[in-house]
Amino acid sequence: MEDRVAPLLLDWYRRHARDLPWRAAPGSGDSAHDSTLPSPDPYRVWLSEIMLQQTTVQAVKPYFAKFTARWPDIAALAAADEAEVLAQWAGLGYYSRARNLVKCAREVAALGGFPSDEAALRRLPGIGDYTAAAIAAIAFGKRAVVVDANVERVVARLFAIEQPLPGARKAIQARADTITPDKHAGDFAQAMMDLGSSICTSRDAKCLLCPVQEVCAGRAQGDPLRLPVKAKKKPKPQRRGTAFWIARADAVWLVTRPGTGMLGGMRSLPDDGWSARGDGDEQPPLRGAWKAGGVVRHSFTHFDLELGVAIWAGGQPDHSGEGEWWPIDQIEEAGLPTLFVKAARLILA
Ligand code: ADE
Repeated sequence: MEDRVAPLLLDWYRRHARDLPWRAAPGSGDSAHDSTLPSPDPYRVWLSEIMLQQTTVQAVKPYFAKFTARWPDIAALAAADEAEVLAQWAGLGYYSRARNLVKCAREVAALGGFPSDEAALRRLPGIGDYTAAAIAAIAFGKRAVVVDANVERVVARLFAIEQPLPGARKAIQARADTITPDKHAGDFAQAMMDLGSSICTSRDAKCLLCPVQEVCAGRAQGDPLRLPVKAKKKPKPQRRGTAFWIARADAVWLVTRPGTGMLGGMRSLPDDGWSARGDGDEQPPLRGAWKAGGVVRHSFTHFDLELGVAIWAGGQPDHSGEGEWWPIDQIEEAGLPTLFVKAARLILA
């Protein structure tokens, strides 16, 4: 069965590949490719793969367009100001990706281009196992086993893997290896991703449309939606914090967060240090002339946050330390992370 998957899937991909802004046409990523097709641009492949980590295709599209218009190649991004890149990344989340993006661009520019080898790619900032494999396969046509969450689901169903995730990751990787072809590995990887996002989805398994239905053990068993089995997740801890809205006539006081740690380097409202507290730590009491402005909620990877917004209601604004007065009517251009955009919108509504 293993050797039947790739031909079926590649044939399907040639006809049904999604047209995505960072994608080259099927067939163009192969080392011995049809020279009439433009080769994939490693810069665009890399940038898209970083943006797509934990983020949907729909959310990524406008950011990809904005970044490639402003920084069309690796040299341009390597020369960019980190603060500017962070501000443009605002809203996409997981901000360490943006800091690593700049570091990686500078290393690659110094090297004179991306390495094509998976192991060398993995040594670059922000590039882990998945991303190294994806770039090697998609940009350079190298055989690499590319397993993201969509592919995990497809493989778990194809082989009816009973072991629960996340423990099953190794077994899934090993099975994925057995179906990855020597040639067209980039198309194969993207075909698996497309299959997972359009046909073999977490809520649905449209088996009658599936190009590999006849070799799928999950389908043969009769209930593919049962797979992959998932270990029960612990509920996320709830943290509480306060952000401060300190405004004068037409401006609000914004700070820049320290370079490392949560939302590091991002512009934000001043706050009570919730991001550095542990789960369950007491919130410091508010002192001074503050008025309650309401509460916003946001979910991070390891905890949920309930952020109260306190409005300064004293006379002369009480702010200390470094920051800047930002025009309130341009608040959407401040490059605030989504949490603080929610807080600002709450106050301005
Ligand atoms: N998700 C991550 N990488 C992707 C790609 N190259 N195509 C479609 N979805 C993806």
